[in-house]
Amino acid sequence: MHASLTVTMNFSAAHRLARPDLDPATNSKVYGKCARPNGHGHDYKLEVTVTGEVDDRVGTIVDLGVLNDLLRVRVIDLFDHRFLNKDIEHFATTVPTAENIALHIRNILQAELPSIGVALQRIKLHESPNNACEVFATITPQTETDRETTESLALA
Ligand code: NI
Repeated sequence: MHASLTVTMNFSAAHRLARPDLDPATNSKVYGKCARPNGHGHDYKLEVTVTGEVDDRVGTIVDLGVLNDLLRVRVIDLFDHRFLNKDIEHFATTVPTAENIALHIRNILQAELPSIGVALQRIKLHESPNNACEVFATITPQTETDRETTESLALA
């Protein structure tokens, strides 16, 4: 039998929303207070839903401790108490909106979760009690490298 399992984790991080190619006035028009130069913080809540086959002997799709360890090492340790724009290379060039953070976590987990026998189904990232972003797994995990390969093939 197939089942899904959702786990929740928390991390705190700072970010600043601004595009380097826009001037300060335009950035504050687009991102409002979030474009202020010295950044601000959020207590993020991350829900991760994985899917897999229930092991009849134990009645679970994955060992919860193993899943939690993977999420801690591959996501929480990288994001918790960081300034996302500076501490995570991806966000040096990608504005760390809730949407872009969720997509980045999705790409990391799509690649990592098969190693423990489950697949990613969905991620919901709560940035505050008032807003959350939900993204779903793509059928074929698309990494930066995949995208570059696809682009170079398209150009060839
Ligand atoms: Ni913010």
